[in-house]
Amino acid sequence: MSTLKALGFLLSIAAGPALAQGAGLGKPLTEADIKAWDIAVLPDGSNLPPGSGTAAQGAKIYAEKCLACHAEGGKGGGSPGATPLVGGAPLTNGIETAKTIANYYAYSTTLFDYIRRAMPFNMPRSLSDNEVYALTAYLLVLNKLAGENDVMDAKNLPLVKMPNRDNFIIPYPDRI
Ligand code: HEC
Repeated sequence: MSTLKALGFLLSIAAGPALAQGAGLGKPLTEADIKAWDIAVLPDGSNLPPGSGTAAQGAKIYAEKCLACHAEGGKGGGSPGATPLVGGAPLTNGIETAKTIANYYAYSTTLFDYIRRAMPFNMPRSLSDNEVYALTAYLLVLNKLAGENDVMDAKNLPLVKMPNRDNFIIPYPDRI
């Protein structure tokens, strides 16, 4: 064994117990800490929170918190980069056609997940779960994908079938 290797070996023995003890920095994560970040909603609705909302409630919240960027009726173009939330040309070409909720999203639960984690753009994670359900209902109704009086909640939302659902190839069906 070269001197350098021998030194490294001795050092690693010496460092063992010290490293196992840790440097005493930070604090352990609690269940609540993890829960606050563990918000991914799956296609089948797993991990959707309690709560509910309707399109009528969503319309009011939209006017207050979304309209400035996404414009009247979700038509988009209100602020630079704010995508339209309604309509969309048929996806004939995956690259050139602009992707929207109605022509692209495979699962309605993605809409809930996206709004909850990312919108409003300037204040993400500021909406209550009821507000997110209501906004989801509103956008689904604007896209004619749900009925005006449908109540969206953990049970009903996953039942909404998105138009582009069957055009995705699922590589691992057993993981859905
Ligand atoms: C300050 C401007 C702003 C506000 C306010 C805002 N958005 Fe957005 N929104 C954006 C931008 C910009 C994007 C595109 C983000 C990207 O592509 O990364 C976006 C994207 C989205 C998308 C994804 C659209 C798609 O085609 O995938 C949804 C859904 C959405 N917003 C919903 C909302 C809702 C609901 C509200 C109100 C609670 C809201 N937004 C408020 C700017 C805004």
